[in-house]
Amino acid sequence: MPDAPKLSQREIDELSARFEIKPMGGEPLAVAHAEGVRVTDVNGREYLDAISGEWVVNLGFRNPEITDAVIEQLGRADWTAPLYGSSPRTLLAEKVAEVAPGGLNKLLYGLSGGDAVEGAMHLAMRTTGKDEFVCLFQAFHGRTFATTALSYTHPNMYEGAKKGLERYTTRQIRVPNFNCYRCPFERTPDSCDLFCARFVEKMVVEGSEGGVAGIIVEPYQANGGMVPAPDGYFQELRAICDRHDMALIVDEVQTAWARCGEMFAIDHYGVEPDMIVVGKAFGGGFSMSGVIVNDKYANLAEWEYGFTTIGHPIASTASLKMIEIMERDDLAANARAMGERFGEKLAEMREKHPLIGDVRVMGLMIGIELVKDPVTKEHAHDEAEWCVHRALENGLLIGKTGPVFPPPAGNVLKLKPAVTIGAAEVDEICALFDQTITEAEAHFGYGS
Ligand SMILES: Cc1ncc(COP(=O)(O)O)c(C=O)c1O
Repeated sequence: MPDAPKLSQREIDELSARFEIKPMGGEPLAVAHAEGVRVTDVNGREYLDAISGEWVVNLGFRNPEITDAVIEQLGRADWTAPLYGSSPRTLLAEKVAEVAPGGLNKLLYGLSGGDAVEGAMHLAMRTTGKDEFVCLFQAFHGRTFATTALSYTHPNMYEGAKKGLERYTTRQIRVPNFNCYRCPFERTPDSCDLFCARFVEKMVVEGSEGGVAGIIVEPYQANGGMVPAPDGYFQELRAICDRHDMALIVDEVQTAWARCGEMFAIDHYGVEPDMIVVGKAFGGGFSMSGVIVNDKYANLAEWEYGFTTIGHPIASTASLKMIEIMERDDLAANARAMGERFGEKLAEMREKHPLIGDVRVMGLMIGIELVKDPVTKEHAHDEAEWCVHRALENGLLIGKTGPVFPPPAGNVLKLKPAVTIGAAEVDEICALFDQTITEAEAHFGYGS
């Protein structure tokens, strides 16, 4: 049995308000214990975690094999500076090269998703000698200066976050999103012939003022509204990058590590990018990120990039064990199968709930878009916010996002449970989710 929690919910709230700057909001839940897909709060209440601790523990909390491996490494060396040789760090890089697509065989370590995206920018600039980047309207690539500049823009972001940023950033060329549910070009997938992808080339040719070093894209756009790239999108982008000598950089900070039913989401598209950026779950629950890169782009001047605690042996050990377990247990296949199960149940819910406008499933990367009206598709922001809190009261942890992220906006609910999840847990999540949507519709007067 776990020890009694050290602080009560009230003590945590009071002390946190006095001593912490919490830049990413706060929910009324103080975690005392977590295991697998179950989280227990300091009052002893249990929750079903449908979001893998905010998509960081892809194998669920406290995986026993990761715990054992970490304890064993702690008995050897708890820390090794990047300057010195470190078996965990190097063995992980070797394993990553083995599981990454084709010729992506080198790893540049970082600490967070945002700084790894900047690492990818450095690699692209160093090789091409150019310094502009193409990014998508509703992209999210992090909170560093450069990645905030690459991320979606919204009135709430101008003041503070974006004001004056030009001084620190390379030039960005924004292109309209892929989004077959809300096409920015007002086209439909049956006849658009991937106009969103082809339009990128126009912007590269006509929108550039000095040369584009790379295109940065999330294969399943996460914070921008849980939107998967359409089939064929990356083939177009690959060809455009080849024609204009630009790096194709795929930001998989949210989508890698079996999340989408393959080790990497880009595996679905049959295209080899020049770089894949990884973070969040990469460290097996510990802080770690990286850029997986091919030989062409593996160039960096000494001291051009780097952070003191990169390639941490504890995070490297946890990450290596996580990947070994994923391969051994074929957890990508489990994510595909469980994703299908979610998909079927959510499709049934969509039939009976007018609030559900669209359901977008890629493995266990699942977005449920709430709309006030299925025809006008008016965003149901308040309803989504309400659902997140009601789900918590119902004992279910879910997420909420885009298309514009700053609270209270965001009308897309997200489910991203551990890729180890089984059918009974999927059914349990779906039952609680269905109950939550039913209650939301009653609360907001849908169908009455
Ligand atoms: C696609 C993507 N890239 C980068 C980041 C930034 O990661 P971090 O918060 O670890 O810096 C995020 C964070 O949500 C993300 O979703």
